[in-house]
Amino acid sequence: MLELRNLSKHYGELIAVDNVSLEIRHNELFCLLGPSGSGKTTILRMIAGFEKPTSGQILLEGKDITKIPPHKRNVNTVFQNYALFPHLNVRDNIAYGLQIRKFPQDEIEKRVKHYLKIMHLPDKRYSYPHQLSGGQQQRVALARALINEPAIILLDEPLGALDEKLRDKMQVELSNIQRTVKTTFIMVTHNQEESLTMADRIAVMKDGNIEQLGLPEEIYSTPTSRFVAEFIGDTNILEGDIVYRDGDFLKIKLATGDVIQKIAKRNVPEIDQILLSIRPEQLKMWKRKPEYEDNLFEGTIRNEVFYGDFSIFIVELGNGLNVQVMFQNILPSGVNKQSFQEKEQIWVGWTKLAGHLLWD
Ligand SMILES: Nc1ncnc2c1ncn2[C@@H]1O[C@H](COP(=O)(O)OP(=O)(O)O)[C@@H](O)[C@H]1O
Ligand SMILES: [Mg+2]
Repeated sequence: MLELRNLSKHYGELIAVDNVSLEIRHNELFCLLGPSGSGKTTILRMIAGFEKPTSGQILLEGKDITKIPPHKRNVNTVFQNYALFPHLNVRDNIAYGLQIRKFPQDEIEKRVKHYLKIMHLPDKRYSYPHQLSGGQQQRVALARALINEPAIILLDEPLGALDEKLRDKMQVELSNIQRTVKTTFIMVTHNQEESLTMADRIAVMKDGNIEQLGLPEEIYSTPTSRFVAEFIGDTNILEGDIVYRDGDFLKIKLATGDVIQKIAKRNVPEIDQILLSIRPEQLKMWKRKPEYEDNLFEGTIRNEVFYGDFSIFIVELGNGLNVQVMFQNILPSGVNKQSFQEKEQIWVGWTKLAGHLLWD
């Protein structure tokens, strides 16, 4: 439905967006995810028409809209600060777009009622923005955009202004709303958790480029670069040389001298250097040496970071390599009896299928 073709934006010497091409589908919740300064907002502003591309094209439903002014594009933006009219009540804020387009009153009333219901706001009809919570203001802003029935809704850090509890709730609510109204949403965020929980597809941005594009599951479990592996969730990056190949398995010697005995080869080509990205939840910890594990190291606990239901242990392996290991404090069956102390000598291991291999 929306296509960006070789889109670039330069500000003098600075390249904010660098030759980005991408296609967004009907009714999907598409997320641009990346660190601050990676060009996300600039892409959104070019789609909205607030910013003129240095080169490239934007096509909406096959039509080139690159040179069309913002108000003539069938696209609506929800701003981070919601930009509600403070002197208008909820009803009038939502109706605004249709009012200035001189829609018949009964049509306006019908649509306002419909969106108040979708946004769970019927009893706030006559409230003013300052009388609403952050989450409610955001839903009014969304209703105000949706009532114009645009082809695409653009959202820049839509949950950025909310506290964490409300943000978690709104992640679910916003994706439910998106499914109900069946409109294409393009959302910008620097929050990886937000993109994983909400998006149908994610484009991970770095320095004005798309580093990886895919489903949340793909981005999380098969990152194609170290940058993506480290940006999405927490991971341990183990860097080393392939010292032995045996059918379906590799043996990897790390720079510290530690050897990873057995890791599934997958589609690794004939190369020497490799990275293993392995997440804290893929590592296991034992007080006593287990009878068998594909990869096993003796280690010392350096730190525990307690999160309540789980802890992250920083463990120093054999030759001084630090890894993060997740330990579930509370099991589904109740409380976990095991406890680990700082300075304790333990064993850390993982199976040959754990982790994800990366190479250039
Ligand atoms: N109007 C502007 N003038 C000059 N530089 C800008 C302007 N807008 C954005 N930039 C620069 O472009 C880069 C990308 O910015 P932006 O798209 O806002 O990133 P993000 O939204 O990913 O944080 C940044 O280096 C930013 O400083
Ligand atoms: Mg931004």
